[in-house]
Order: sequence, then structure tokens, then C-alpha cells
Amino acid sequence: MTQPRSINPAKPAREWARLSRLRPTLGLVLGSGFQAALANLAVDAEIPYDHVPGFPPVGVGGHAGKVVLGHFGETPVVALSGRAHYYEGHSLADVTFGIRVLAAFGVQDLLLTNAAGGLNRKFRPGDFMAFSDHINFMGANPLRGPALPGLPRFVDLTRAYDPALGKLLARAGRAARLRLHTGVYLAVSGPSYETPAEIRAFARLGADAVGMSTVPETIVARQCGLRVAAVSCLTNLAAGRGGGTLSHAEVLETAARVQVQAGRLLENFAINYGKIRL
Ligand code: HPA
Repeated sequence: MTQPRSINPAKPAREWARLSRLRPTLGLVLGSGFQAALANLAVDAEIPYDHVPGFPPVGVGGHAGKVVLGHFGETPVVALSGRAHYYEGHSLADVTFGIRVLAAFGVQDLLLTNAAGGLNRKFRPGDFMAFSDHINFMGANPLRGPALPGLPRFVDLTRAYDPALGKLLARAGRAARLRLHTGVYLAVSGPSYETPAEIRAFARLGADAVGMSTVPETIVARQCGLRVAAVSCLTNLAAGRGGGTLSHAEVLETAARVQVQAGRLLENFAINYGKIRL
């Protein structure tokens, strides 16, 4: 059962506002493979998640678990570096609490990132995919539970991923010289990987990539009125699509191989975003 949150997201947002003078309208969630983006960020403030009441601890290796405020070029951003996952046992309310804090902090546009397995036969490990849409196959929805005052109960997801932000992402992909596809992301709860039969079924449903995150964050962000873009680092071919078996080591290996490109993608996106907004 998704529990109502006892902590008001405005509270951590007020605390962040005390720690930094930056008031970014762009928020980033850095998943597996995208943490290296921080190397190019001019950091103004860092807040470990365990200093933010309401943030669940993050469990996956390579995820630092901190809020970082800084600039890419002239563009101020606030980044959640590392995320808690549903498969760790957290409620989806906890998993998505950071998105509500970003919204309370004044963020209007959100770029979500993750690692995913590629179903589409054109995809190769190390490519990237911008979301055109998603399929929620987690068996859970972060909005389940009591209605939240002032927010829509039945959230429209017709255009979950913003076309204008998608164009910015495509431009950033070209500038970063990486293979950026567009496609449908299907979210499962994990933590086991899929069977080849599941992957064949998901492909028939229209999925191009599969992963264990991001969709709950999109849903909550849309409830909060944020515009959303999302991008996967395709770390592996989905089960049965390649010759061998799947491992987390392979996911980490590919993510490490393309981390510089992933960082450039986010930096270019943020810089172009700033030019349009400013
Ligand atoms: N399946 C689910 N989640 C993933 C995968 C995958 O193949 N690769 C990275 N995250």
C-alpha cells in the first residue's frame, strides 16, 4: 500500500533554499551511467540524501545519493544524484518523494536518466534512447493512496514526455556525438532480469527498452505539473536478444564505457535549455 507521506516536501525545499542561492527551473535525476555528468558541473552546494528528511537511502553501487546544486555553463540546475528503487522494498511514495521536493523547490522541467536493456533490434549496447512514451509494467502506481490536496487525482499521461524537451535532447545527442534513438520504455519492478519470453512479449506490446525505474518519477512529475524528458543508457541487449546471459557487472561496465558521452549529453542539454529559457 502506498502510504501518505508524513513529511511535507516544501520542508526540504526550504532547507535547500537556505543552503544555496540558486533557483534552477531544471532538475536532473542521475541514474546508473549518468553520475559522471557531475564532473562538469560548477558545484554550489551538495546535500547528502541522509541529511534530507523523507529521502530513502539509495542502495545500488555507483549511486552516490546526494542533491547537487550548480551550473552547467550559465544554466543553474539541481541534480538528484542516485535514486532509490522500488525493488529495494521502498514504497513508490518514498521512491518519488525527491520529485515532489524538486517541484516544491521551483523546478519546472525535469530530465530523468537511467540504464536499460535494449529490445529494439537496431539498438546496440552503449547507445542511448530518449523516451517517446512509456508502459508501466511495475504492477504499481505512485499515485495510489489518498488524494493529495491541490493535485489532480487522475493524471493525464497522453503527452507524458514533452516534445520540446525531446527536441533539445536530440540536439544535445548530436552535439555529444552519440547514437540517440527514440522509443518506448517499459518499466518492470525487478530486481530479477526478464526472461526471453517476457522480452518477446514486451516487444509485441511496443517496448523498445526495459528497465526498473523512472516511470514512477514521470507519473509524479506530471501530477506536479512538471515537463519531463527521459533518456536511457542502453547498457545491454535485453534477455534473449544477445548471445549470453545478463549481469549487473555488464550493466556497470557499459555505463562506465560511455559515461563521458552521457555526461556531455546532459551538459549540452542543460546549456541549450538555459539559452532558450534565459
Ligand atoms: N532489464 C531491466 N533493467 C535493466 C536492464 C535490463 O535488461 N539493463 C539495465 N537495467
